[in-house]
Amino acid sequence: MTEHVNIAQDNGVLTLSLNRPDKKNALTDAMYGALADALEAAQDDPAVRVVAIRAEGDLFCAGNDIGDFMAAGGEHSDPNVFRFIRLLGKARKPLIAGVQGKAVGIGTTMLLHCDYVVLADDAVLSTPFVGLGLVPEAASSMMLPQRIGHQRAFAMLAMGERVAAEKAFQLGLANEVVARTALDEALQAIAARIAQLPPGAVQATKALMQDPDTVAAKMDEEIAIFSKRLQSPEAAEAFAAFMQKRAPDFSKFS
Ligand code: COA
Repeated sequence: MTEHVNIAQDNGVLTLSLNRPDKKNALTDAMYGALADALEAAQDDPAVRVVAIRAEGDLFCAGNDIGDFMAAGGEHSDPNVFRFIRLLGKARKPLIAGVQGKAVGIGTTMLLHCDYVVLADDAVLSTPFVGLGLVPEAASSMMLPQRIGHQRAFAMLAMGERVAAEKAFQLGLANEVVARTALDEALQAIAARIAQLPPGAVQATKALMQDPDTVAAKMDEEIAIFSKRLQSPEAAEAFAAFMQKRAPDFSKFS
């Protein structure tokens, strides 16, 4: 358990709220653990018809906690982040998200696994993995090019290009853009609509739209490289630069 993830269940809707606003909802191992536990339990709980992810504070999620990245173990470690990612890829219950402000790294890649995404008009999606000496995760190296095309995905995944709400909507990364003040209401309305549908047919439809084995294989491929890259000198420089609030210097790497 962690105080940084709030979990609430009401009328068939399980709501997972990121609640670490002072650190911009950067995700720690404990937070991934709480999210993964809740997501896993929801799959076999008939009282849960839809899972909603949202966040407290001015932005959705600043990605993985960079301090945790620095402390990450060797390539054989399998922290909660990977458990959470794998559960996203094979979730049977519909998953929806409401996003305000920045959604960085996994804050954006988790949205690729959501069945309905509502963006506030101030939302900005970004995946700056390469700038941290890392590679994309959560099968985003496969799913993002499939959704928006190779070149636009390269700009996001390799070059860290930020995509604002309206553009994300146009690219097909979200269902709707609403005023910041209307976000929670919009998310609740979508959750209620899905919760009223026949659950068996909804889950069967989601299953038909999913390809969990292919997604899991891509995740494993990414995790192997990601874990090695966490130990790389490029990543060490990027993490140190973030902690020291300076720009990274990659000029010494060949
Ligand atoms: N990991 C750990 N701490 C983080 C964090 C992260 N991913 N993102 C933000 N924080 C912390 C900051 O270190 C700061 O802590 P401090 O108050 O103790 O100094 C606090 O959260 C506030 O962040 P700050 O950068 O001052 O807020 P901002 O509004 O100016 O910027 C972001 C917000 C999200 C743009 C910026 O924090 C950022 O770029 N974070 C890193 C994002 C990232 O690269 N994530 C990994 C993706 S793979």
